Amino acid sequence: MDWLPKDPQIADELARLHEAADRSTAERRERGGFKPEENTDDIVRLGSEYLALSPEEGRFVYMMALGAQARTVVEFGASFGISTLYFAAAMRETGGRLITTEVHPDKCNALRDTFARAGVEDIVTLLEGDARETLKQVEGPVDLLFLDGWKSMYLTVLDLLTPVMRPGAMVIGDNLNLASAQEYSDRVSDPANGFLTQILGRTGLSVRLD
Ligand SMILES: C[S@@+](CC[C@H](N)C(=O)[O-])C[C@H]1O[C@@H](n2cnc3c(N)ncnc32)[C@H](O)[C@@H]1O
Repeated sequence: MDWLPKDPQIADELARLHEAADRSTAERRERGGFKPEENTDDIVRLGSEYLALSPEEGRFVYMMALGAQARTVVEFGASFGISTLYFAAAMRETGGRLITTEVHPDKCNALRDTFARAGVEDIVTLLEGDARETLKQVEGPVDLLFLDGWKSMYLTVLDLLTPVMRPGAMVIGDNLNLASAQEYSDRVSDPANGFLTQILGRTGLSVRLD
């Protein structure tokens, strides 16, 4: 691993999580893999799967949050907290806060332990349950939205948060290569819909226009 955030507690926990995610990915490959878009109808399946950002992708989202000097970040889909901890590390630097979401009860339990070990309980709020409901309570202004839950729900989450996103707020959408994210990609790719978007590989970077 070439780079981890400088906060030692966050770095230790991230190193542990990346190792566990690698093991989980290897085991899944042995079982023949899976297609995420086949699981969008059942939001609590894949309970033990990490489905996490790589260290390089983690560094990328950390850079985006830090570079934007984001003070309020919202994450759709925490899983076991890998992306969450990269954002938390950036929020340590900016003095900001992170609101994350996870629907799977076992993952929520694991996340609470992870946040305690990483020492980020003061900056991370976990909203447990279906983000399409829990995110209704978020107050703005939101500076950065990270979409990494089930892809068919990206548009619903975007619509929920658009009213509390500040002009210039950034949206990072992961896995836009999947068919289930197509409706989302189509919407944000048309500037008439209020976002300017560049899709780089499987990642969409959008900025909310005035
Ligand atoms: C791809 S994983 C997230 C990986 C995580 N961002 C990381 O880098 O470690 C997607 C997660 O979103 C969660 N999820 C899916 N739909 C959800 C919903 N409607 N509300 C809350 N969480 C959801 C799933 O349970 C799963 O853990």
